[in-house]
Amino acid sequence: MPVEAPPPAVELDGVSFAYRGGPPVLEAVTLAVERGEFVGIAGPNGGGKTTLLRLALGLERPSSGVVRLFGASAGERGSRPRIGYVSQRAQLASATPVTVHEVVEAGRLAVRGPFGPLRAPDRAVVREAIDRVGLGDRAHKPLRTLSGGMQQRAFIARALASEPALLALDEPTTGVDAASQESLAALLAELRADLGMTILYVSHEFGAVEHVVSRLVLVRGRIVFDGDPAQLPALWHDPSHTH
Ligand SMILES: Nc1ncnc2c1ncn2[C@@H]1O[C@H](COP(=O)(O)OP(=O)(O)OP(=O)(O)O)[C@@H](O)[C@H]1O
Ligand SMILES: [Mg+2]
Repeated sequence: MPVEAPPPAVELDGVSFAYRGGPPVLEAVTLAVERGEFVGIAGPNGGGKTTLLRLALGLERPSSGVVRLFGASAGERGSRPRIGYVSQRAQLASATPVTVHEVVEAGRLAVRGPFGPLRAPDRAVVREAIDRVGLGDRAHKPLRTLSGGMQQRAFIARALASEPALLALDEPTTGVDAASQESLAALLAELRADLGMTILYVSHEFGAVEHVVSRLVLVRGRIVFDGDPAQLPALWHDPSHTH
């Protein structure tokens, strides 16, 4: 009997979507992301990138079509795959005086349940997530005292603390300088290489990740490009980014 390949991390099959009472946002989106892929999702403002990501994670229900995460359709009973989601507005939380460590701990509590202090193995996961993003020496600093790039790393560490099978990031480089964008790209490439993490990375300025993603998907109400970023027609490139 042939060995069956494991189901893809994410599958959208003929997915269309409109917000309640609104016009269509996405039409006929078909996309399969294999485990271990690092997919950049780009496109213009309002093109539907965030909506596509939320559909892929099962946070929105398609108007038509099917979405599967690790082989299970969204809303199906049974164990839910662990997803690390750094949402587009995650930075706003940085106004509060919480420390990096507290933010990352909260990410662990979300999977472990909120009763009692974290046990040694949970604390080890928290520590490892903080070290992994390079904030080991700033773990007890309030988040708001860190640069935008470091705050974004803290939110990535929070996502990693749930030991996710899939990491999804929405515009993680908004308000982050070019050097931090490069090091963020390197961090994500490392997560993929070391942990085999599947990564979905949404940005309308994909310049910094272009050379580390294995695949680029361009979204403008539908998928207008899906492939090797090197094959992207020149006019799509972000002119604001230089290497
Ligand atoms: N919660 C919502 N309710 C109604 N309409 C929405 C909602 N969220 C987004 N939209 C609309 O859906 C369309 C796609 O929005 P979406 O946020 O997915 O685009 P995007 O590509 O992520 O844009 P951006 O680059 O600005 O983040 C837009 O026209 C937007 O106004
Ligand atoms: Mg968006």
